[in-house]
Amino acid sequence: RNMSIIGVPMDLGQSRRGVDMGPSAIRYAGVVEKLERLQFDVNDLGDITINRPDSKNDKQEGNLRNLPQVAEGNQKLAEMVDQEIEKDRFPLVLGGDHSIAIGSLAGISKHYENLGVIWYDAHGDLNSGETSPSGNIHGMPLAVSLGIGHEKLTNMLDYQPKIKPENIVIVGARSLDPGEKDLIKEKGIKVYSMHEIDRMGMTKVMAETIDYLKDRTDGVHLSLDFDGLDPSEAPGVGTPVLGGMTYRESHLAMEMLAESDILTSAEFVEVNPILDDKNKTATVAVGLMGSLFGEKLK
Ligand code: ARG
Ligand code: MN
Ligand code: MN
Ligand code: MN
Repeated sequence: RNMSIIGVPMDLGQSRRGVDMGPSAIRYAGVVEKLERLQFDVNDLGDITINRPDSKNDKQEGNLRNLPQVAEGNQKLAEMVDQEIEKDRFPLVLGGDHSIAIGSLAGISKHYENLGVIWYDAHGDLNSGETSPSGNIHGMPLAVSLGIGHEKLTNMLDYQPKIKPENIVIVGARSLDPGEKDLIKEKGIKVYSMHEIDRMGMTKVMAETIDYLKDRTDGVHLSLDFDGLDPSEAPGVGTPVLGGMTYRESHLAMEMLAESDILTSAEFVEVNPILDDKNKTATVAVGLMGSLFGEKLK
């Protein structure tokens, strides 16, 4: 049970300040202590250095804000994640905005034929420069991983696509842009929106998700965006959307994933301590990691 923590203080994939402090907030809430209590051999590798754009010439390339810096930061992350998997260590990535899933998936997916992805999020993050309403790259990482988007991002580590559409399950969606809805239909991506979670209950949603991925994949990555949770319980996020998954539903989801033993990597993103209420969201993060990594099973 070897685990490596990689902090990614990335805030250039969106427009609000503060999410670069997410890794510190999660460490402050006690992530290392929690995982050590769960008998993990934890190696905290600290934070990747993210180079900031020169404000005098921050020209935007094809509706992608901060593209060179986001690409550079993700390249470093991809290489690091790759190395940790090579050493047989479970990569746990702490964000930072969701653009960092580009690097995580680039580094992880080279080790699998059929990597599965659980995208726990209010959003689909399936935009490209053409469909994005904001130009923010944190709204694009899932599309990028499917090979859709700017080649600087899609071709990271010189291969693409990183994942196949049939190996993705989105959980908690409630804010999808028109282009994202089109892509979901076109590619047949499996989505459990809040509507399905309300109707079926989280137990059935996760049981189906696990069953679906277990048979078709040889590894599963959890990409958990804290705006997937309801803003009343996870207020420290940059793009909150009402009507989200509760703390209890999220614990249940994490416990079911722990029992299934299908996860091979995970990332927790979009924690913004400046927008938070006394580090509540980072505390929720550490609580959920406890469940995800087997607290209940011991
Ligand atoms: N769909 C919106 C956009 O593309 C919001 C994306 C929010 N993404 C996130 N990872 N919080 O700009
Ligand atoms: Mn390798
Ligand atoms: Mn989101
Ligand atoms: Mn997201």
